[in-house]
Amino acid sequence: MCNKKPYYITTPIYYPSANLHIGNTYTTVAADALARFKRLTGYDVFFLTGSDEHGEKIQRIAEGKGVTPKAYVDEIVAGIKELWKLMDISYDKFIRTTDDYHEKAVQKIFTQLYEQGDIYKSSYEGHYCIPCESFWTETQLVNGNCPDCGRPVERKTEEAYFFKMSKYADRLIEYIETHPEFIQPESRKNEMLNNFLRPGLQDLCVSRTSFNWGVPVEFDPGHVVYVWIDALSNYITALGYNTENNELYNKFWPADVHLIGKDILRFHTIYWPIMLMALNIPLPKQVFGHGWLLVDGGKMSKSKGNVVDPVVLVNNFGVDAVRYYLLREIPFGSDGLFNNEIFMKKINSDLANDLGNLLSRTVAMVEKYFDGVIPAPTAKEPIDDELIKLALETPVKVEQHIDKLRIPEALGEIWALIGRANKYIDETTPWILAKDPEKKERLGTVLYNLAESLRFVSVLVSAFLPTTAQKINEQLSVNLTAWDTVSAFDGTEAGTRVKRGEVIFPRIDVEAKLKEFEAAAEVKEEVKPSMQPLKEEITIDDFDKVDLRVVKVLSCEPVKGAKKLLKLKVDLAGEERQVISGIAQYYKPEELVGKYVILVANLKPVTLRGELSQGMILAAATDDDSKLFTVSIPGELPTGSTVS
Ligand code: MSP
Repeated sequence: MCNKKPYYITTPIYYPSANLHIGNTYTTVAADALARFKRLTGYDVFFLTGSDEHGEKIQRIAEGKGVTPKAYVDEIVAGIKELWKLMDISYDKFIRTTDDYHEKAVQKIFTQLYEQGDIYKSSYEGHYCIPCESFWTETQLVNGNCPDCGRPVERKTEEAYFFKMSKYADRLIEYIETHPEFIQPESRKNEMLNNFLRPGLQDLCVSRTSFNWGVPVEFDPGHVVYVWIDALSNYITALGYNTENNELYNKFWPADVHLIGKDILRFHTIYWPIMLMALNIPLPKQVFGHGWLLVDGGKMSKSKGNVVDPVVLVNNFGVDAVRYYLLREIPFGSDGLFNNEIFMKKINSDLANDLGNLLSRTVAMVEKYFDGVIPAPTAKEPIDDELIKLALETPVKVEQHIDKLRIPEALGEIWALIGRANKYIDETTPWILAKDPEKKERLGTVLYNLAESLRFVSVLVSAFLPTTAQKINEQLSVNLTAWDTVSAFDGTEAGTRVKRGEVIFPRIDVEAKLKEFEAAAEVKEEVKPSMQPLKEEITIDDFDKVDLRVVKVLSCEPVKGAKKLLKLKVDLAGEERQVISGIAQYYKPEELVGKYVILVANLKPVTLRGELSQGMILAAATDDDSKLFTVSIPGELPTGSTVS
């Protein structure tokens, strides 16, 4: 019978993506550190992570590759698990939303919500933007057009199920207001209340019929369950909710913390609690929305070529260097920067210098002055007290920080102890003591205190840098690693033999390494391009309907109040036409003037933001729209020339 207090921590379940970047890794590394720390301090921890595998996007990618969605995700999920192994992630369970038990439980949840009247069938009537594949409500449209791309939308009706969100809104507002710890950090709580809840919630569309890669609605199989209802349920289905095998659920729910990135806070603090209220299930104790990991130049994106690959970093610097940077340098809760140079310098200063040197100096001195055997602390002096006092206070402070999820601050306390121990070496000057045979006992005491401080450090860092803790323990032959052994400064056994090992964090030649990375990045630029799946085949007659003509840009200016749009006047064989184009992010107006570009000349005119648009300018863009170029003619051709 285990009397330990349960602690349930979750990460988001990841979309299957072939290359998880350092930003994705961040959530899971942070959750792992918390899970390990709670285990260390005596909790019975359940740490859940997993993959979120359904949805239209996955279906389309798989179709494009000519494989089943399941075969596609299987391979990617195997890669995600490999990454977590590499990052030393100690999850207790990895849930996949394609797991049979999960799908069945989601179906049951949906049916229950339907039967009790929280979900009802209706039809989704909205304005559909075909290129963006998005439904918009009347109020979201901008001058009757898609607010994202500015193109015209179509009215479309789709049969769908809806969740009566509004029914629970007041209860949720009250809950959030009376449970200040529920949404953290504090600023995010206000954002949710003021931007979403207080203005009023609309009923949520919770089923789709336009694709089938999802959990079928049990009583209406033409529908699949909305991917967020499917995904959020993982936090309880993983514990066996609503099954005979629900011991874990009874023990661990409600979760102590859902750790997530700030981008998915709305789903976790509005939809999820409302689902739980409707199911009459207690809410998680806390949802913590951490900040965004940015790289120089902003958000990471494949097409910008600035994605930081955790595997490359681990292979070059070791897993704990990467874990350390993420946990120590990114203020938990706010955005933080990942930069190779800062990263390497930080490893050199904090890990190679501060910690690495403390260990290697201590081991070397025990070897040199005491034949490798840790001496007994028989000659204490008042100067020792400050170090010992700090060592004894540090576990308490670290635990207090972790209870508030202040991970960088917790590491800061450990490094303060490391700094103090290094200072203690300078103060006690063991190399001078060693010259005087009468000071042998004092020298032994100093070295004992250093070894014991390092044992404290090892216990404390074991949650954050597990491999490093192990290496310290090996070199100092530490036996006592449990949390209760850092409440007294006497856990190191005199007489223990040290074993000098490899340098735990070799110093990095930052300049050389940066050059190496730059060179590798250049080679990488030649990566094989990926593309959206091709559209349905058409005949030459279909193509022939599109009238493409060469036009010359006469003038160009921004469209007032529309960040993405430019207004172009073009010459088409003497006729002046006006075209509104969503390319303002990519071109300054003056860059386009004088260019010969291609116009879809027989496109029905539309009004965008109150401006007439007589055709469309052809452009090529990356899948995520981060790069775009208009298609232009390299020389001069009479305007009106046909393109075929
Ligand atoms: N599948 C959803 C979550 C469903 S949970 C019921 C999802 N998946 S994700 O793969 O897109 O994101 C996983 C996690 O990575 C999220 O917490 C997200 O916030 C985080 N991050 C993605 N990019 C990030 C950064 N650049 N920086 C920090 N975290 C980031 O969302």
